[in-house]
Amino acid sequence: MHGGSTEEFQRIRIIMKKDLLNLIDKAEKEHSLTQDELAKILENKEINQELFNAADRVREKYVGNEVQLRGLVEFSNMCSKNCFYCGLRKDNKNLKRYKLKPEIIIDFAEKAVSYGYKTLVLQSGEGDFYSTKEMSHIISEIKKLDVAITLSIGEKTEEEYKLFKEAGADRFLLRIETTDRELYKRMHPEMSHENRVNCLMTIKKLGYEVGTGSLIGLPNQTIESLAGDILFFKELEADMIGIGPFIPNEDTPLAAEKSGTFEMSLKVMALTRLLLPDINIPATTAMESLNPDGRIIALQSGANVVMPNVTEGEYRALYKLYPGKICINDTPTHCRGCITGKIHSINRTVSKDYGFRKKNYTNQ
Ligand code: 5AD
Ligand code: SF4
Ligand code: FES
Repeated sequence: MHGGSTEEFQRIRIIMKKDLLNLIDKAEKEHSLTQDELAKILENKEINQELFNAADRVREKYVGNEVQLRGLVEFSNMCSKNCFYCGLRKDNKNLKRYKLKPEIIIDFAEKAVSYGYKTLVLQSGEGDFYSTKEMSHIISEIKKLDVAITLSIGEKTEEEYKLFKEAGADRFLLRIETTDRELYKRMHPEMSHENRVNCLMTIKKLGYEVGTGSLIGLPNQTIESLAGDILFFKELEADMIGIGPFIPNEDTPLAAEKSGTFEMSLKVMALTRLLLPDINIPATTAMESLNPDGRIIALQSGANVVMPNVTEGEYRALYKLYPGKICINDTPTHCRGCITGKIHSINRTVSKDYGFRKKNYTNQ
């Protein structure tokens, strides 16, 4: 009788696996799943490879074999916010702060263009460390270099977003980090989830390509909320989604917490590809920080973008969101060669264009 119950258990496991494979199959064809279905796939480990393969096929079908490279300029590590997970948080006194002068930022951008980048991402901590006028000047000068510009500088007013758009910015990255409001509140003192969503809507309304995304493995984050994050990306009709594991930083209140896993980050990313087939999805730096082949594995599980660091000198080490960040002692030229080699090694090519989203799928 006992042997029978093990067999029964095995039989149920096989049926469950079959059901999940059917769901993945459905998502590959119809690009739609419910929160409950997403959660079921996220919590079962037996279907991972099939999920990654399906996401890889959808990536190839909708965005092709070209990998978009965006050069990341980390132009200031000053921040007025206190996100619990982040090394740049205001209360971290163990970090040497820097703020590059506009002419240095423009110089880094020129160098990046000379290495072949057609898109630059200008990233910094949040706050008013540069005036709106200064920021607009930086954007319009870099725009003259004939590149697409992505900003990743946090929550701003509608007026500022508008001025930056007019100055030449094309895209904006602002991760929602989590759609679980209670968790959001615990992780972000004095910040409002509502305002973050409003910022994303404003950015969209102003005609930017919108990038958002989540951290995976925050303390007490649930599978249901991760499934909810994916549905949020779809509802927002985001153009780019960046997913990365949470990595505890010793200089933050979350120092003693467990890291998110590479596997769960990859699964959320792959499901995002199934549901939003034609968007741009980066293989994130945080993924590679947890797994030495992280970006290549991500590129084979739904991703089509990489954002190599083009920050020069000591600054990349000072832009310490989390420990173990890759490339901190490498130069922009080295990274460009390194990532190009990796991309070619999996029979993919590096795109030579600006990398705008090419919409070739609609919900309707
Ligand atoms: N681990 C992983 N990612 C982090 N970020 C900030 N701190 C960490 C951390 N400890 C991410 C956030 C932010 C992006 C710029 O960096 O998601 O949006
Ligand atoms: Fe500042 Fe962004 Fe870090 Fe939050 S995640 S502390 S806003 S740099
Ligand atoms: Fe920087 Fe490989 S991308 S060393």
